[in-house]
Amino acid sequence: MKKILFFGLALGGIILAGQFQSCQREPVDIGDLLVDPNNPNDTIPNDTIQQNLHPCDPDSVYFEKDVLPILISNCAMSGCHDQASHKEGVILTTYDYVKSTGGIKVNSPASSKIYQVLSGGGEEAMPPSPRSPLTSAQKATLLKWIQQGAKNLTCDDCSTDNVTFAGTIQPLLNNRCVGCHGNVDPGGGIKLQNYNQILTQVSNGKLWGAVNREAGFKYMPPSGPKLPDCNLEQIQIWINDGAPNN
Ligand code: HEC
Repeated sequence: MKKILFFGLALGGIILAGQFQSCQREPVDIGDLLVDPNNPNDTIPNDTIQQNLHPCDPDSVYFEKDVLPILISNCAMSGCHDQASHKEGVILTTYDYVKSTGGIKVNSPASSKIYQVLSGGGEEAMPPSPRSPLTSAQKATLLKWIQQGAKNLTCDDCSTDNVTFAGTIQPLLNNRCVGCHGNVDPGGGIKLQNYNQILTQVSNGKLWGAVNREAGFKYMPPSGPKLPDCNLEQIQIWINDGAPNN
């Protein structure tokens, strides 16, 4: 009940009034209200609770939007680099942990531990087999983020206009979920790589229950914060539309 109240408050009139046209976020500090007090992993460090009201600069790498999803879905799984497992002391679930445990070297970005292991630079290659290596685009994003000072910049380019499967939902799940729900060793046996696989999890109610962190479902993603409000709205809009393959 508390959570529903918080969620409703946080989204202001957006949900209640059914105005899904755009992410009309007010300049109010709402981030902490979305943290679920029942989930120990669900913490957002203070410095990330900034307003996402700046437009995104295509030349900048943004931690929450660009870097964290890669780490959450490829590195921060249970048994690896989530808070509880912290293999080798490395935790990759929040900005503060990445900065303090990722071996980031802003003055020599390519020799940062977090980047070295991806490139197989002498140390054990990550993610370990049989998981797929990161794509070159993902590696480039991480390197560029360090080159730009490994900052915690935020911006907002999320829109709830014209939500489609191909243009909105699939890229979102690819970015945030498929690292754990791909064909290799999928979490809970659940694959989210194509439309039919995703539709199965929508139809049985698990996808929404998991991302919205409802009682009785496993919280997804399992480490790091809840998905941003705007992404949740996009998923909800698409499901309410009948989850079309558009
Ligand atoms: C770090 C790895 C990881 C990430 C990232 C991840 N999942 Fe999962 N997911 C799992 C694991 C592991 C399970 C099985 C959970 C269990 O049984 O404890 C699971 C279970 C689920 C379930 C079943 C939930 C239930 O209550 O039965 C759904 C649905 C799901 N994930 C969807 C998603 C979606 C959508 C995303 C992206 C927003 C996501 N997952 C991100 C690892 C992950």
